[in-house]
Amino acid sequence: MSRFTGKVVVVTGAAQGIGEAYAKALASEGATVVVADLNVDGGERVAKEIEAGGGSALFVRCDVSSHDSATALAATVEAAYGGIDALVNNAAIYGDMQFDLLISVDWDYYRKFMSVNMDGALVMTRALYPSMQKRGGGSIVNQSSTAAYLYSGFYGLAKVGINGLTQQLAHELGGMGIRVNAIAPGPTDTEATRTQAGDAAKDLVKGLALKRMGQVDDMVGACLFLLSDDSSWITGQILAVDGGQTFRL
Ligand SMILES: NC(=O)c1ccc[n+]([C@@H]2O[C@H](COP(=O)([O-])OP(=O)(O)OC[C@H]3O[C@@H](n4cnc5c(N)ncnc54)[C@H](O)[C@@H]3O)[C@@H](O)[C@H]2O)c1
Repeated sequence: MSRFTGKVVVVTGAAQGIGEAYAKALASEGATVVVADLNVDGGERVAKEIEAGGGSALFVRCDVSSHDSATALAATVEAAYGGIDALVNNAAIYGDMQFDLLISVDWDYYRKFMSVNMDGALVMTRALYPSMQKRGGGSIVNQSSTAAYLYSGFYGLAKVGINGLTQQLAHELGGMGIRVNAIAPGPTDTEATRTQAGDAAKDLVKGLALKRMGQVDDMVGACLFLLSDDSSWITGQILAVDGGQTFRL
């Protein structure tokens, strides 16, 4: 038996990058994975690759900023598999995000950004927690970032929100046996980071204790640990997976 045999896990933003790595790793440990993303081509590709490798996966198009979309996803998954055991709130506007300051960013863009990067985790949690409650409990992992601890404008502000949401929801859902934790990755080598940071990534690496970029597989161990029963008495925690980029006392 693998750690996730018989478990149904929804991973948002799983059409590429870190979310894709989470989805594939979960499937390889026996989970039925729901690939939830706005990107239809990428999401279908990931689900097909999981199935071709002998795993079980379903792509569901989903906009994490939309209550209707999140509720529809919950209904689709319930109908297909009878319930949900875990959720990874990984989706975010990242690779193609606008560069601007908090004091000047276009207000409509700011609100759209926060509705995805911060509120999206709450929208998805609100839609999916009843399915976990019915199963007797579950685990949620929110994707934060070390940007929450560094100057990084509205991107970092959204991740501060993710951290706060993680701590507050841990209390609201703990009585139902649902744990809520977060991972704060440091700079990780994805297509989105290459687009967004370019050569600046090389400078970031100089500031890390471990002198290399993170790889998507570096995130997988922490995510699966927090989703699994190996962490059954851990909730409300934010685990930095960052090569020593940050420390908090
Ligand atoms: N790559 C890094 O260096 C790094 C570091 C720290 C944190 N993170 C976080 O990790 C996560 C994944 O990062 P990545 O590098 O793989 O990014 P990515 O841009 O490759 O992946 C993000 C995914 O989210 C999807 N998405 C965007 N808006 C959506 C919406 N409204 N509804 C559903 N899906 C939506 C995109 O289609 C994409 O598939 C993000 O939350 C990011 O903030 C990344």
